[in-house]
Amino acid sequence: MSVVESEAPEDRPAAAEGGQVPSAMQYDYTNFYFGSGDDAFAMLEPFSEWWAESHPAGYYLYGLPMQGAPKTRVDIRDTKTGQIHHDLLNFASYNYLGLSYRPEVKEAVIEATHLYGNGASGSPVLSGSMEIHYQLAERLAVFKGKEAVLIFPTGYSANLGVIAGLMRPGDLIVADQYAHASVVDGMILSKANSRFFRHNKVEDLERKLKRFDGKKLVIVEGVYSMDGDIAVLPEILEVSKRHGARVLIDEAHSTFIYGERGRGVAEHFGLDDEVDIHIGTFSKSLGGQGGFVAGSKALIDYLRGFSRSRFFSCGISPVVAAGILKALEIFEAEPELRQRLWANVEYMHSLLNQGGVPVGNSESQVVPILVNDDARVLEIGEALMRDGVYINPVQYPAVPKHKSRFRMSISAAHSREELEQGARIITRVLERYGICPQTSDTITSTTG
Ligand SMILES: Cc1ncc(COP(=O)(O)O)c(C=O)c1O
Repeated sequence: MSVVESEAPEDRPAAAEGGQVPSAMQYDYTNFYFGSGDDAFAMLEPFSEWWAESHPAGYYLYGLPMQGAPKTRVDIRDTKTGQIHHDLLNFASYNYLGLSYRPEVKEAVIEATHLYGNGASGSPVLSGSMEIHYQLAERLAVFKGKEAVLIFPTGYSANLGVIAGLMRPGDLIVADQYAHASVVDGMILSKANSRFFRHNKVEDLERKLKRFDGKKLVIVEGVYSMDGDIAVLPEILEVSKRHGARVLIDEAHSTFIYGERGRGVAEHFGLDDEVDIHIGTFSKSLGGQGGFVAGSKALIDYLRGFSRSRFFSCGISPVVAAGILKALEIFEAEPELRQRLWANVEYMHSLLNQGGVPVGNSESQVVPILVNDDARVLEIGEALMRDGVYINPVQYPAVPKHKSRFRMSISAAHSREELEQGARIITRVLERYGICPQTSDTITSTTG
């Protein structure tokens, strides 16, 4: 395998030393970022060589084809062996409330297909706005308790469009260091001065804000997507407001979960009206696709004109919009869904605790299983799949190097037996790798 100049040479394993060719698993995407020469395709061949080795060695675990809906048990095609793994316990899909495959949602989707056909066939500012898009935006604004809502093709493009739509070169954006890639990309696109403060450390945020005169935006997440902990919002708001900064909260993983009405972490803290910009997605709790921003009418009117990721992209499919609208209706009619989710979250956390599984500071349905072993996380992922659990490994660049983990999603749809069985398998596999103490036999169930 040929090795090329990396973005961060110090991170590269000592390939040339001793003339030994290291295993493919010692490399990652970093090694194929920069290359010498004038050909824009210079990296393709070395990358292909590496991919040919690394893919069957474990990277194949990403993007495995699911054979049906993201239910709590799924059939998955193993692309290395061609074999279908049947009935795996699914802790990989978001779908936190099990709404993606509800019969009423499927019916709504079918009905909308008859009326609208498949796509929106235009930008939402031109011909791509159907009546159903307006209904969805209005319904969401009422749910969020805000004057207006703007819908985007994805949660990713919502962050991109809102951040770059609002902030300009010379302004300052300060985001939590664990902010999602879409926040980071929005910051880059805006060309504003971009800084990061240490995760949830308000003193660090204040240091970054007080050195700057001018327009300022602070960005946090409600529930952090790779750690499952929540923003220390009261302190963050106090510091931000004192320094004249506006605040954006990305509630991708917390809308429909946190707060009395499910509006998110801002509502959970009783600070919904203090936050200036609220981002959410349809891809997580509602099991659909698309993103949104909620706020004042003035903010939404401005962003409608300046959010290029929405302006210059096709509107979400009316079929998807109909499914989301129905999912939202069910969410509002069935508060027991959220109660069941929280009961499951509490139960799974207690089972994993009994097994000594390291889950960091997670306090939500997003549970990282911290392996911190970049070389072995994929091997462990294969072992989990063989033993009956489907869960996604997460490596650099989604998390920092040496912070590899599995990212578990708990759903209201999981039964207690499924949670127990999952916790036992995970604990047993992690014991074999020395990550958990030998305790799996002590996990006790409350279901008998
Ligand atoms: C915090 C956060 N924001 C935004 C997004 C992007 O959302 P979507 O998948 O709807 O594009 C994600 C997706 O995982 C996320 O975790």
